[in-house]
This record gives sequence, C-alpha cells and structure tokens, in this order.
Amino acid sequence: MSKIKSICCIGAGYVGGPTMSVIAAKCPDIKVTIVDLNVARIAAWNDENLENLPVYEPGLDKIVAEARGRNLFFSTEVEKAIDEAEMIFISVNTPTKTYGLGKGKAADLKYIELCARQIAAVSKSDKIVVEKSTLPVRTAEAIRSILDNTGNGVKFQILSNPEFLAEGTAVEDLLAPDRVLIGGDTDAAGQEAIQALVDVYANWIPKDRILTTNVWSSELSKLTANAFLAQRVSSINALSELCEKTGADVNEVARAIGMDSRIGPKFLKSSVGFGGSCFQKDILNLVYIAKSYGLNEVADYWEQVIIMNDHQKRRFASNIVKTLYNTVSGKKIAFLGWAFKKDTNDTRESAAIYVADDLLFEQANIAVYDPKVEEHQVYGDLNYLGSRNKEENANLVTVFNDPYEAVKDSHAIAVLTEWDEFKNYDWQRIYDNMKKPAFVFDGRGIMDGGKLQEIGFVFQAIGK
Ligand code: NAD
Ligand code: UGA
Repeated sequence: MSKIKSICCIGAGYVGGPTMSVIAAKCPDIKVTIVDLNVARIAAWNDENLENLPVYEPGLDKIVAEARGRNLFFSTEVEKAIDEAEMIFISVNTPTKTYGLGKGKAADLKYIELCARQIAAVSKSDKIVVEKSTLPVRTAEAIRSILDNTGNGVKFQILSNPEFLAEGTAVEDLLAPDRVLIGGDTDAAGQEAIQALVDVYANWIPKDRILTTNVWSSELSKLTANAFLAQRVSSINALSELCEKTGADVNEVARAIGMDSRIGPKFLKSSVGFGGSCFQKDILNLVYIAKSYGLNEVADYWEQVIIMNDHQKRRFASNIVKTLYNTVSGKKIAFLGWAFKKDTNDTRESAAIYVADDLLFEQANIAVYDPKVEEHQVYGDLNYLGSRNKEENANLVTVFNDPYEAVKDSHAIAVLTEWDEFKNYDWQRIYDNMKKPAFVFDGRGIMDGGKLQEIGFVFQAIGK
C-alpha cells in the first residue's frame, strides 16, 4: 500500500483535537481534517485567537498554529471529509449508557454506530477505519458488520489504535508516547493496513515503541491499562484512610513502596479520588463485559476500584462536616480547583463536583475558584448531577475569578485540584481574611502543612 496522504478524524474533542493536531504537525505531507457535528466546537478550533481553542492543553496552541491552514483543517462537513480520506479515525465519545440494558455500566456505542453507518454510506473508495475511541473488546466486529453490509462494495480494513494520552500532558504524551498500540487483522490485508498506520506514526515515533497486536488484544489493552492505573489510585487511597488512623504518612508509605522497582513510583499519589471522563467509565465497562461472560468474580474485583473511589470522595466531604463542629449549614466553604486534575479545563467526573454535592446537602455555601474552569461549567456540572434545581445551585454556589475573593470570609478551604499556583498564594493574607478558626483541607497533598499551621490554620491532608 502506498503511503497515506489524507486522514479524516470524526470527533474534535479532547482526544481527536490534540491527537490529529500532532499528526498534522509531524506529517506535513498528510492532509488531516477533523470533523465534528458540534458547530461551536469547530468554530473554536478555527478561532484566530489561540486562547479560545476548546481544549486547554499546555503546548497545544503552538502545535495548532504550526499546522492549521497548512495541512490541518477543522470542519463540520463530515461527509466530504470522509469521502476524501484514505484513513478515517473514529474519535467520538463513548459514555456510560444511561438507559436500557447495561444502564450505568455498558458503553453507549450509539455515536460509534452512527459513524460506521455514515462511513458506509459515503465511501466510494477503499478505506482504513481506525478505532481511536475507547471501546469494549469486540466492537470492531460490529463496525465491520455495518461497513460490510451497508457499504457500496468498497473494502474496509478496521484497526484498533487506542489513545493513552493523559489530559494536562496530552501534547507531551503524543510527542513522546511510552508506546503506540495498533491492532489489526492477522491476514495479509490486515497487516498491510497496520503497516500504513505504523508508517504514519514512524514519522516521529521510534519503531520499537510502535506495538502491533490482533484487534481484540488492542481493544482490551486500553480498558486494562485504565483499570490498572485507576486501581493504583484506589489502592493508595484505601491505605490513606488506614494511615490517618495509625499515624503513618501516606506520602512516606508511597515513597517507600514506590522505590521497589517492581512497584514503581508513579500513580501512587493519594487524593480526594480520581476523576476524569474515562477511569470510571472504562472500569464500569470492563465490569459489564466480564459479567456478560458470566465472570462474576472478575467483575466484582474491578468494581471494587470504583467503590473505593466513591468512598474516598464521600469521606473527604464528611470529614469537612465533622471537623467544622458537625455543621456547615450557612457556612462558606471555598473550593480551590474544580477541574479533575491540573493543567486542564476538563471537569468531567471531577471529585470536586461530588464533594460539593455532599456539602450542599448539608446546606453549605460554596465558593469556587479554578484558574481554567468557567462559571457556566461549574453550574452545568451541578445542574447535570440533578441533586437540586438550577435556582438552588445558583443560590448556594458562587464562582469567582479571583482566588482571594473566593476564600474571603470563608470558614474553610478545600483544595480539590493540584494547580501549582495554589502553593504560591499569599497564605497570610488569606488567613487574615477568613473566619477563625480557619481550616484548610488538602485533598491533593500539595500544600505545605507546616507552613500553614505556623500561620495559624488548622490543616488536614488526605492520608496524614
Ligand atoms: P469528547 O466528548 O471531548 O469528544 C467527542 C466529540 O465527538 C464531540 O465533540 C462530539 O460532538 C463528537 N461527535 C460525536 N458523534 C459524532 C458524529 N457522529 N459525527 C461527528 N462528531 C461526533 O470526547 P473525548 O474526551 O475526546 O473522548 C473520545 C474517546 O476517546 C472516548 O472513547 C474516550 O474514552 C477516549 N479517550 C479519551 C481520553 C481523554 O483524555 N479524554 C484519553 C484516551 C481515550
Ligand atoms: C487517564 C490515563 O492516565 C490515560 O493514559 C488515558 O489515556 C486516559 O485516562 C483516558 O483513557 O481517558 P487522565 O484521566 O486524563 O488519563 O488523567 P490521569 O493523569 O490518569 O488522572 C486521572 C485521575 O486520577 C485524576 O483525577 C488524577 O488527579 C487522579 N490521580 C492520578 C490520583 O489521584 N493519583 C495519582 O497518583 C494519579
């Protein structure tokens, strides 16, 4: 097969946008068109002002500036882009189902199926279809069935190429990934398709980091990787509670075990709980798949990772209530951070949402400051959760653009995202303007507790 010259990506979200921007930047000879049904999102990707890109990721603006208009295009013309491309990435969302069979666990594949049907309807030449979205193992079978039965007689190859980037470090991860995984059919045509995609990545990634497998291994490896990562967080979080009871310090324990090269130091940071759009959704999906094969022990094992995470979020909130003399009713609690981790504006499944929800049940007033999350997003998250109506959320929650205003007159501060800037604030000034005793609850283990205590704060951190 000759080298790929044109790529289309369906879905201009947190994965499609950055991933394709990097491919375009690194492969100037390939025309890359990212399409989306969301008109506002595409307009934002095309915005002259790079600060308005819909996804905030350090370094992404430079990459987009380099390639946009040269060989990188953002468009709403989905059919045209499919028609023109030799290789089509599907990078649409695959949320947890909220209805019907598998509700609350299985992945909702309606957007994937729509893409497959659209590709089948539009294609007039042979195409390689690449699953970039995270999908249940054996989804390629369904995609193949749609493509082969409703197509115009053109030939399709289906590859699985899951994405391992983490938000906040997406550009770094894409420029120098630990590995790129490509799964395809084991016959000659499948191998040829794999090679075509290997050649795209080989423009900047060393060949020994490009791993090829069969389709099912590739699909399952993505769910497995996220399950293992989330499991580490739940494991250290489980221990954080024991540390609090015994006088052990979770950071010291993490360091001590992480120096064992078999365990390794990463992903051992105890926190208020993992968030993000994927860990929970992917584990629930894994649980559902295991159950659907009758593997109940396997399902229960992985479900425990989610149970532990929910417990960690709840106990953080209930500890605030307990510490503030068992009532937060009418008290102002300031949240530093709303995003699910630093260096992103993404708030999906952020622990902050659930901590806020619990405190709102206790009638607290919540003041939120996050350097990258906008006011409408905070309200949107709480309204979507549906525990109370819009008016109640608007009355009880206030979003500030200035951290010092957010914390003024508050009884307590909860650090919910590990933004670096929080450490550099004028904490004396913050203390002076708070109600006394002034409390700081560090859900991220980033604050210098000793320094805060010297100022006069009552300080508590997860796992200490
Ligand atoms: P997202 O919601 O940010 O983006 C998905 C986009 O697809 C949306 O803009 C939506 O409008 C668009 N879309 C849906 N159906 C469409 C259609 N038929 N035609 C055109 N556009 C359509 O989601 P995301 O975070 O980019 O995640 C995408 C996939 O990648 C998911 O399967 C996710 O599990 C996986 N993933 C995400 C991350 C991450 O860090 N966010 C990392 C690795 C993998
Ligand atoms: C995660 C994986 O790291 C990516 O490899 C994967 O591609 C992605 O999910 C996905 O499939 O969506 P992401 O969710 O963006 O990436 O961010 P992480 O850095 O993994 O953090 C997830 C959550 O775990 C965050 O809330 C973070 O604060 C928390 N976390 C992480 C901890 O509490 N402790 C840690 O030690 C590490």
